[in-house]
Amino acid sequence: MTPVIFVPRDSAALAVGADRVAKAITGELSARGLEARVVRNGSRGMHWLEPLVEVRTAHGRVAYGPVTEKDVPGLFDAGFLEGGEHPLFHGETKEIPFLKSQTRLTFARVGVTDPLSLEDYRHYKGLRGLHNAIAMEPAEIVATVTDSGLRGRGGAGFPTGIKWNTVLKAEADRKYIVCNADEGDSGTFADRMIMEGDPFVLIEGMAIAGIATGATKGYIYTRSEYPHAIAIMREAIEIARRDGILGASVLGSRHAFDMEVRVGAGAYVCGEETSLLNSLEGKRGVVRAKPPLPALQGLFGRPTVVNNVLSLASVPVILDRGAAFYRDFGVGRSRGTMPIQLAGNIRHGGLYETAFGVTLGTLVEEIGGGTASGRPVRAVQVGGPLGAYFPPALFDTPFDYEAFAAQDGLIGHAGIVVFDDTVDMLKQARFAMEFCAIESCGKCTPCRIGAVRGVETLDKIAGGERPEAQVDLLKDLCDTMKAGSLCALGGFTPYPVLSALTHFPQDFTPRPMAEAAE
Ligand SMILES: Cc1cc2nc3c(=O)[nH]c(=O)nc-3n(C[C@H](O)[C@H](O)[C@H](O)COP(=O)(O)O)c2cc1C
Ligand code: SF4
Repeated sequence: MTPVIFVPRDSAALAVGADRVAKAITGELSARGLEARVVRNGSRGMHWLEPLVEVRTAHGRVAYGPVTEKDVPGLFDAGFLEGGEHPLFHGETKEIPFLKSQTRLTFARVGVTDPLSLEDYRHYKGLRGLHNAIAMEPAEIVATVTDSGLRGRGGAGFPTGIKWNTVLKAEADRKYIVCNADEGDSGTFADRMIMEGDPFVLIEGMAIAGIATGATKGYIYTRSEYPHAIAIMREAIEIARRDGILGASVLGSRHAFDMEVRVGAGAYVCGEETSLLNSLEGKRGVVRAKPPLPALQGLFGRPTVVNNVLSLASVPVILDRGAAFYRDFGVGRSRGTMPIQLAGNIRHGGLYETAFGVTLGTLVEEIGGGTASGRPVRAVQVGGPLGAYFPPALFDTPFDYEAFAAQDGLIGHAGIVVFDDTVDMLKQARFAMEFCAIESCGKCTPCRIGAVRGVETLDKIAGGERPEAQVDLLKDLCDTMKAGSLCALGGFTPYPVLSALTHFPQDFTPRPMAEAAE
């Protein structure tokens, strides 16, 4: 049996030298006259171990990491093609505790397969959902997605099946599926990992969405900062087209569906669905007023499903295993699994997919292993730049849409950014306002002007200029932004600001201005 060596081609692995490691491995193979197949897989999501090199041995797939090109000769000397012992050896990959304790439904194949091998995709249960969908009536597919309890993974948590039903019922000459792959939230990378590690699952999910709603064309909208994801997605679409998964007759059925990737310049607000649609139409990325809903008048004025990558990538397993299987995971109204992204000052950062219901403390302290700096955790921001800061006192909050909302927080795209006890929460509040001021599309006053005033007010607090009156003003400003903004960029910026103020009031004290603005 020819040994198989896996070296990830995921951006996170490439950033820490995976290409150099792959080159060193092929060089060493030929220098030693050895034969092995090198597969460039996706990432397993254990970022602190990247580049994580795996070898398929008689005793399963074993892992070594983090590997540099300098380690490669030593790995060969240690007999790593047979799973030999080495200081970087972690044993069987699936037994590594971070992986072992996960429930991978959406990410089942990521890191396991060659992302561009349809043979691998089929071998690991790919296309079963699409085959099932083809045998069903569109309304039945929509009902299955609704029954699964799947909610939008892009931020708002809106039930996916209900959105699809609106598009299914709308009469139009053309309908569209738009995949929101803008992934602008801080500390998030799950969409990118899917596109780079298992692109066919997104293609399959979008094709199912098309068949379910009567849409024949799909667009993946992503940002120019994702060059590897763009290249892999485009190659995968070509392969799927050649194989008859996409085109005039999806898998030989009566349904047509095709898709392409479109690249935006990378503005946070272009992740907002209506702004995204404007950008996709070649216009400036400015938010549209709702109604009309994109589901009724979306891309080019036609009924459009706009769904996040993770929402669409979760559909194939639902159509394969059934609504009840998926719904069985989770708690309350948060059903299924969530690919959670652990980032910031954290020891074990990466992708952790699990059923809803795990507590924030378990995620940060146990799974993430606390801070990378070794200092105590002081705050975590969940849900991107518009998410609230939670102190450890709220660590018993279960990962659940409603439980987070009850604490004035949000799950959003499930990014968790960890800060240690050196963080200055006034600076973080200022950063939230500044971010909003920079990223605002400018359409409505509370956000366009309010965010600028917010930065000024926080600077006055830092400067000791009647701080108590400024705090009152800040709260008032936040109320106005919450109530009067057209979209969630202006409407949710108050959440990080007010949570910093509520949970860390001691930080809202005068300090040198230059320090506050750093
Ligand atoms: C300022 C702003 C930025 C957003 N950025 C993203 C994004 O990067 N990706 C995403 O999927 N949704 C983003 N959203 C949410 C989208 O507007 C929309 O709710 C989502 O794409 C719907 O898909 P889902 O139902 O599958 O979550 C953003 C919303 C706002 C207000
Ligand atoms: S809240 Fe901000 S980003 Fe949203 S529409 Fe208003 S100005 Fe634009």
